[in-house]
Amino acid sequence: MTETKALTAETIVPFLAEIFERRGATEYLGERVTMAEHMLQGAHFAEHRGEPEEIVVAALLHDIGHFSEETGGFSMEDTEDRRHEEAGARLLEPFFPAVVTDCVRHHVAAKRFLCATEPDYYGGLSEASVHSLKLQGGPMTAAEVEAFERQPHLEAILKVRRLDDEGKIAGMPTPPFAHFAPMVRRAVAARGTRR
Ligand SMILES: [Fe+2]
Repeated sequence: MTETKALTAETIVPFLAEIFERRGATEYLGERVTMAEHMLQGAHFAEHRGEPEEIVVAALLHDIGHFSEETGGFSMEDTEDRRHEEAGARLLEPFFPAVVTDCVRHHVAAKRFLCATEPDYYGGLSEASVHSLKLQGGPMTAAEVEAFERQPHLEAILKVRRLDDEGKIAGMPTPPFAHFAPMVRRAVAARGTRR
């Protein structure tokens, strides 16, 4: 992703908006929604429930790493995990508060965590999510669960994971990226003031 080199706190939000616009119609392989629909649905649910803006923004951007040219997208034919969550977190890290980037970085681990800790969780996963779970290492071991419980933003991470699982509804209308852009800008501004 060569464009990211020139990104600044001023250009990151238009850059993300442009990704949604230009690449958002990309198929979310194995799901019945596009990538943009998937992320917008998660953000919409979060906003509708009055979640903090950081949760809305994290849900909106959690899969942005699928657009990284370096890691490529996910496919049902994949036989190894492409680590889109790490690519996304690396893109966002310089500009967003840690809680947002932690939710992005750990949304796959959160699935593995919930599979290990909640008996009913696995049954609610989509077919594609079950397929990728295998590539991602399956449910966490007891030792991994114990380590993951120490994540400083555990509650937010799990919340965004559940929004991720919910945002797979074919044809559900949502507001566009532009609706959420002011929140995204405020998140970037909040990171700036903590430097
Ligand atoms: Fe997702």
